[in-house]
Amino acid sequence: MTTFRVGILIGSLATESINRKLARALMRLAPEHLTFTEIAIKDLPLYSYDYDADFPPVARTFKEAIAAADAVLFVTPEYNRSIPGGLKNAIDWASRPYGQNAFTRKPSAVIGTSPGAIGTAIAQQQLRSVLGFCNSPQMNAPEAYIQFTPGLITDEGEVTKESTAEFLRNYMAEFHQFIVRVYTALPRDA
Ligand SMILES: Cc1cc2nc3c(=O)[nH]c(=O)nc-3n(C[C@H](O)[C@H](O)[C@H](O)COP(=O)(O)O)c2cc1C
Repeated sequence: MTTFRVGILIGSLATESINRKLARALMRLAPEHLTFTEIAIKDLPLYSYDYDADFPPVARTFKEAIAAADAVLFVTPEYNRSIPGGLKNAIDWASRPYGQNAFTRKPSAVIGTSPGAIGTAIAQQQLRSVLGFCNSPQMNAPEAYIQFTPGLITDEGEVTKESTAEFLRNYMAEFHQFIVRVYTALPRDA
C-alpha cells in the first residue's frame, strides 16, 4: 500500500502547547501508511506581497515542505474565537505568490484542543473557510473538538483516557482513507 507523507502544522507557538501534545498523540495513533513531518511556522516573518518577487529563505523552506507533503494536518488552538495569527500568517505565505498556492489539491484535515468545552470548534470552522478558498480538499467528517483536561495527553503524546485514544485512532484512520480517496480521484502527477 502507498505511504503518504503528512505535514503537520501546529497553530501554537507556545513551549507547553497542548496542541503540540495532541499532534504527538495523533502521530502515535496513526495507521502505519502515514509518515509525519512537522512544518514549523514560528520563524516566518509577517507576510507581505512585497516578498512575492523574492521569498526569504525561511519562507522558501516552509513552502517547499508543504509542497513535499502529500497531505496537511492542522492542529490548532482557538484564540479569541478564531485561529491564531501565526497560523494565518503561515497560510498566507503558503498561498502566495498568486498562482503558486501550495495548498491547491492538497488534502487536509483540521483538529484542535482547548480547555474550553467547545474544544476549538469556532477556530476550526474559520480555518475550514480559509482552506476552502485555498482549494484544499478537506476531510469533512469526523470532526474533532477535543476538550483538554489536565493529564489527558502526556508530554510524549500518550493519551491517558482510552475512549479519547480510540476516537483519535479512528480520526487518523479516516484521514488516511480520505487521502487515499482524494488521490484516487486526483492522482498526484495528473
Ligand atoms: C490570546 C488567547 C486567546 C484565547 N482564546 C480562546 C478562545 O477563543 N477559545 C478557547 O477555547 N480558548 C482560548 N484561549 C485559551 C487556549 O485554549 C489555551 O491557552 C490553550 O492552551 C491554547 O493552546 P496551546 O497550548 O496549544 O497554545 C485563548 C488563549 C490565548 C492566549
